[in-house]
Amino acid sequence: MERLLAPVKAFLHGETPSSWIEEARRPERLAVVLQDHLLCELKAAQTAVWLLRRYALDKGGSERLKGWLRPFEDRVYRPCLVKEHQAMASEVTPAGLSCRPDAPLAGPLVEKMVRLIKEELHHFEQVRTLMLARGIVIEPIRASRYAASLMQLVRSGDPWVLVDRLIIGAYIEARSCERFAALAPHMDEEVQRFYVSLLRSEARHYQDYLALAQMASPEPIDARVREIGEAEWRLIAEPDALFRFHSGVPSAL
Ligand SMILES: [Fe+2]
Ligand SMILES: [Fe+2]
Repeated sequence: MERLLAPVKAFLHGETPSSWIEEARRPERLAVVLQDHLLCELKAAQTAVWLLRRYALDKGGSERLKGWLRPFEDRVYRPCLVKEHQAMASEVTPAGLSCRPDAPLAGPLVEKMVRLIKEELHHFEQVRTLMLARGIVIEPIRASRYAASLMQLVRSGDPWVLVDRLIIGAYIEARSCERFAALAPHMDEEVQRFYVSLLRSEARHYQDYLALAQMASPEPIDARVREIGEAEWRLIAEPDALFRFHSGVPSAL
């Protein structure tokens, strides 16, 4: 596990503060930790779908992707529509996803993002199963400031929108990986085992995002990676009034 985490920790500008772990491990926080985790998995898939629709797929491909995602979105936002057999992460496949001819990054984007979508939707199902077994309500809860604040850093115009969104994607994935590893030893056996099982794919997701960012950029991305990394660390290290999976140091709780 340490070998898997070493590059993730080197990429991040700091490790999760112990005060966040102390808060997250409290039994009364388990529901919100899992509720937010469920939404994070869905948002991770939605982000990748957005990238593919904007930078790779033609109309037919876009519609197909939206169709895969919709039953998972229904499970959170429109539960009355859900039929149990309706959605399968295993159905997500790059085969037959048609791309626009004017999309230079379409090949690598489809290759890496379709796999990511499939894995995030599988994680979503795993969190949901865990929640259902424990009687934890599946409902949309208010998001933390984390992702929205990072998105404010996105420059305008392409390729910068794409480059910045990919770098931000890398940081969100890397932080999630680091946080699952940091929190795992403090959770019950089932949650602990689940968190550890997520580490390998989340670590690969951050590397995939970073590789795509370098491919999308006409110049080296090191300076931009550093800027976004510093901003990400401030969101983790500074006080945050709302406790969530990606929140900062708990304050005024
Ligand atoms: Fe995930
Ligand atoms: Fe991920």
